[in-house]
Amino acid sequence: MSRKRKELPILENVTIADIAGEGKAIARIDDMVIFVPYVIPGDVVDIQVTKKKHSYMEGRALRIVTPSPDRIAPMCSHYGVCGGCKWQVLPYELQIKHKQNQVENVLRRIGKVELPEITPILGSKETTYYRNKLEFTFSNKRWLTDDEVKAGVQYDDMNALGFHIPSMFDKVLDIEKCYLQPEISNRIRTEIKQYAKAHDLAFFDLRNRDGFLRNIIIRTAGTGEVMLIVVFFKEDEEKRVALLDHLVATFPEITSLIYVINGKANDTITDQQTILYKGRDFIEEEMEGLRFKVGPKSFYQTNTLQAYELYKVAREFADLKPEQTLYDLYTGTGTIACFCANRVKKVVGIEYVPEAIEDAKINAANNNIDNATFFAGDMKDILTDEFIAQHGRPDVVITDPPRDGMHQDVIKVLLNTAPEKIVYVSCNPATQARDLTLLDEKYKVVKVRPVDMFPHTHHVENVILLVKK
Ligand SMILES: C[S@@+](CC[C@H](N)C(=O)[O-])C[C@H]1O[C@@H](n2cnc3c(N)ncnc32)[C@H](O)[C@@H]1O
Repeated sequence: MSRKRKELPILENVTIADIAGEGKAIARIDDMVIFVPYVIPGDVVDIQVTKKKHSYMEGRALRIVTPSPDRIAPMCSHYGVCGGCKWQVLPYELQIKHKQNQVENVLRRIGKVELPEITPILGSKETTYYRNKLEFTFSNKRWLTDDEVKAGVQYDDMNALGFHIPSMFDKVLDIEKCYLQPEISNRIRTEIKQYAKAHDLAFFDLRNRDGFLRNIIIRTAGTGEVMLIVVFFKEDEEKRVALLDHLVATFPEITSLIYVINGKANDTITDQQTILYKGRDFIEEEMEGLRFKVGPKSFYQTNTLQAYELYKVAREFADLKPEQTLYDLYTGTGTIACFCANRVKKVVGIEYVPEAIEDAKINAANNNIDNATFFAGDMKDILTDEFIAQHGRPDVVITDPPRDGMHQDVIKVLLNTAPEKIVYVSCNPATQARDLTLLDEKYKVVKVRPVDMFPHTHHVENVILLVKK
């Protein structure tokens, strides 16, 4: 027996009221909330409902009836299709105002702890070309935009090199220009695409898992160094060498040219061998005279300039003293640990990924830092009362967990150990707020400062200083 799907309604002349958590624009009709992407408060729109639940709906703006007085033209021709930079139609001052409100609302609603006045958000000086890493995918099934579909043209060339269309694994939007990474990134991507087409190199077929060219990853550093990783699906030495030689000749800016042959099901290269073709197998970032090695698989904060601002806020909140022991939890490649090492007697860094800990040790050694030790493992297993008895009680803890926040066992150990100060850096104020509730037993929130690392997106970083009650 077949059941007829109920047709979802079109709602006309709906005013977008606000931006809610996770950056979703919302409208309200009676008690019903409707989430709509790519619109901003003040827009009046016709909405095609795409999902209807008991207490909320999701929809797509069919037409902007009256644009919000705040609306500005998007800078990017891919706006609305690519899935990134959703807030570019909102002036930057309003973007950061919404981020500030978002942090404040979430801390009050979920945290329910006493809060000081929140220091104004630290905006990013650079609002374009601020990312130091982007990955592009080759596909032989280019995503056609609505206009292209309506035009009904048969395209001979269906190859694309760009970003995945959100939630469509086999469809890739061909990118003409991306405003996120310095211009060299656009030049490299365009050149590779043109060369591949001219030399008939097969773009990856994501559905049937076939083809030659699979991905490229471009990393750019504040030092001017550039790393290019070309990922092939299978080896064809003659074609591979010809392409890589062409890139060497065309881009003297590339200081690290690496390739990978990835024949497995998914795109991640973390478990793949990276092979150096030309230059060094790393690039370097620089911060206050410290140099940080960034390998093809290393994590480094993606907005280099703003990472420096974020670390300065964390260090200022920590107010470190020469006799103190500092723990840097979720240390990654040890950047915060190294950044603070000369202010304290001793630093202990802990991180899940063993390769990142190897990089952290190299970073410390390269910067002549001899008071930092690093440990690899799951935080809840490593950071125990016994570990602290062995390595010294921290006076200050800087913690920078992933989006999920801290595990309850980690919070228990922090409460047992009770350092004077905890500086909590978070990329997800909701889980940060949850953790504040648990820490409230012994800690009060003394300072809060959001930092914007990702202009044109809803993402926000937040730094909180907790002091023992
Ligand atoms: C937001 S990043 C912070 C990195 C570093 N503080 C920085 O600024 O570059 C979070 C880090 O936590 C690590 N991580 C995630 N889950 C973990 C766990 N359960 N135990 C230890 N580290 C973990 C990740 O590998 C990542 O390096």
